[in-house]
Amino acid sequence: MSESVHPVPEDFNARIGARELDELNDLANADPDRFWLDQARRLTWNKFPTKAGDWSFKEDDFHIQWFADGELNLSVNCLDRHLAEHGDRTALIFEADEPGEGHRWTYRQLYEETCRFANLLKSRGVAKGDRVMIYMPMIPEAAAAMLACARIGAIHSVVFGGFSPDSLAGRIADCDACAVITADEGVRGGKKIPLKRNVDTALETRDVPTVIVVARTGAEVAMKDGRDIRYADVREGLSTECNPEIMRAEDPLFILYTSGSTGKPKGVVHTTGGYATWAATTFDWIFDYRLDDIFWCTADIGWITGHSYVVYGPLANRATSVMFDGVPNYPDFGRFWETVDRLGVTIFYTAPTAIRALMREGDEPVKRHSRKSIRLLGTVGEPINPEAWEWYWRVVGDGRCPVVDTWWQTETGGILISPFPGATEMKPGSATKPLPGIHPLLVDAAHRVLEGPASGNLCLSGSWPGQMRTVWNDHFRFFETYFKTYSGLYFTGDGCRRDEDGYYWITGRVDDVINVSGHRIGTAEVESSLVSHPKVAEAAVVGFPHDIKGQAIYAYVTLNAGEEGGDELRKELVQEVRHDIGALAAPEKIHFTLALPKTRSGKIMRRILRKIAEGATDGFGDTSTLADPSVVEALLAGRQ
Ligand code: WTA
Repeated sequence: MSESVHPVPEDFNARIGARELDELNDLANADPDRFWLDQARRLTWNKFPTKAGDWSFKEDDFHIQWFADGELNLSVNCLDRHLAEHGDRTALIFEADEPGEGHRWTYRQLYEETCRFANLLKSRGVAKGDRVMIYMPMIPEAAAAMLACARIGAIHSVVFGGFSPDSLAGRIADCDACAVITADEGVRGGKKIPLKRNVDTALETRDVPTVIVVARTGAEVAMKDGRDIRYADVREGLSTECNPEIMRAEDPLFILYTSGSTGKPKGVVHTTGGYATWAATTFDWIFDYRLDDIFWCTADIGWITGHSYVVYGPLANRATSVMFDGVPNYPDFGRFWETVDRLGVTIFYTAPTAIRALMREGDEPVKRHSRKSIRLLGTVGEPINPEAWEWYWRVVGDGRCPVVDTWWQTETGGILISPFPGATEMKPGSATKPLPGIHPLLVDAAHRVLEGPASGNLCLSGSWPGQMRTVWNDHFRFFETYFKTYSGLYFTGDGCRRDEDGYYWITGRVDDVINVSGHRIGTAEVESSLVSHPKVAEAAVVGFPHDIKGQAIYAYVTLNAGEEGGDELRKELVQEVRHDIGALAAPEKIHFTLALPKTRSGKIMRRILRKIAEGATDGFGDTSTLADPSVVEALLAGRQ
């Protein structure tokens, strides 16, 4: 593989240069406790912790705690403590779907709105430890809703607005939520999304006592007496002060559902002190944030990236954060750069899938705008191919802005592997090196830890403050999923190569998770949706490489006797998946087949299905264990 190396641009004056980074690494290695407590000092605590990490990944002593005797409130850290000197600073810039339509909230406004929401929740009986769903567009009220939960100690669970009512219902049931905060409608790319109607549908299976509806478009929506409240109707009467609940560091802050290899999405639980420390620390380190910066992370708050780098990380650092409610190609492919110029964005963080989609449109939509305010670029969510990296660097950044390729996961709370923009030489396609205090390892199939340049499965040998603490209601599944495969290690689910310079190159998921446009989809979820169609007997779903999306979904389907596959049925099946999960999980290809490749014991050989979906015609490895080896020929003949 040919590798180019880009040095740190000479005039990029970061606070953390190579020497400062060495010092951080040295301290993290020499005295981890002191190092982590130093990071915790970024926050304002009611009681500062005496101890940093206390954890073991071993089965007989399995536990993870950080800053356990510390006490704090995260909304205070994101709001109250900035008010005296920075109350008039812009906290959030709302950029609506229509360019230029939007507004700004200062820290004081965000504080007041957060307190109003908190008081409204309290008046409805929501208390510390209760679960609150947030199903909203990217509007400042969504951030206020999250912070309001943090303020009263309620546990929020944000569900991306692109998920179907069924998905929302499943999450409400799993965490037994007592309230839903939503909006009348969302608007994306000029299209309306019926959020309140989706909530109503979700609640048909299981109702909640309280639904709060924020006005986004002002559309007429059904309101259920006694349950539904229009925020606009009560807002004026709500106090703009609300005493924060003092939380213990290990009290849960939020649940975020994410797909895994098996079963339904898991409720990833993050706690208060460790998560807050990690979001604040990584935001500061990796984005080299200065007070005059305008930071734009394009992620939706329905994903972990939106939690850590639209809301909590920036606000804890009293940054100005852009909340974008649109899409990269509306009204045209120059939208990002037009907005960058208009708002004066200095740091821009997006996903490889967006970069690839824009790259395909050529340089003109980029060059049409000046982009001179940008000084730092970042990517997250999936491996970035070197061509896309180079385009981002050369065309978007004019070859003068460092690109931080940040590897992390919902489970890790914040960035774990990334360049420091002022200190790390960049290699396009590599997330480069672990952050100070982070200890990745590569492990082979025989569970051997690999040294030096090698390829293997990516694990972490130690904990860090932002690590998830449990799967909601299923601590056993937490251990089984992440710590059982390699004893004493956290297994990420990713494959990875380490080169001769110690740089990490993430190659993608090695489990049954498909990463479509940076969104995690579990094959089991899609399969279970497909087989719920009355004509379907069996389904097996794999990922295959896709130019823009990174990966797309390829579904193999066998039908019940007498049924025939065709385009009509394909449409029905796609509709089924959209209904059960959401449009983001819709298969790109559906391949009707008479049989799936199975071993004699009945196990589907996914390896073969992946190969065929990728377009391979041979190299299927050992097929002698197949119950019926002729299946492979038949599958090849029917490839979509
Ligand atoms: C992938 C998103 C390569 C990876 C923050 C991981 C990446 C999964 C990168 C987590 C990157 C994320 N390079 N792969 N820079 N960032 N991934 O939970 O497979 O939505 O396991 O968290 O995305 O996705 P999640």
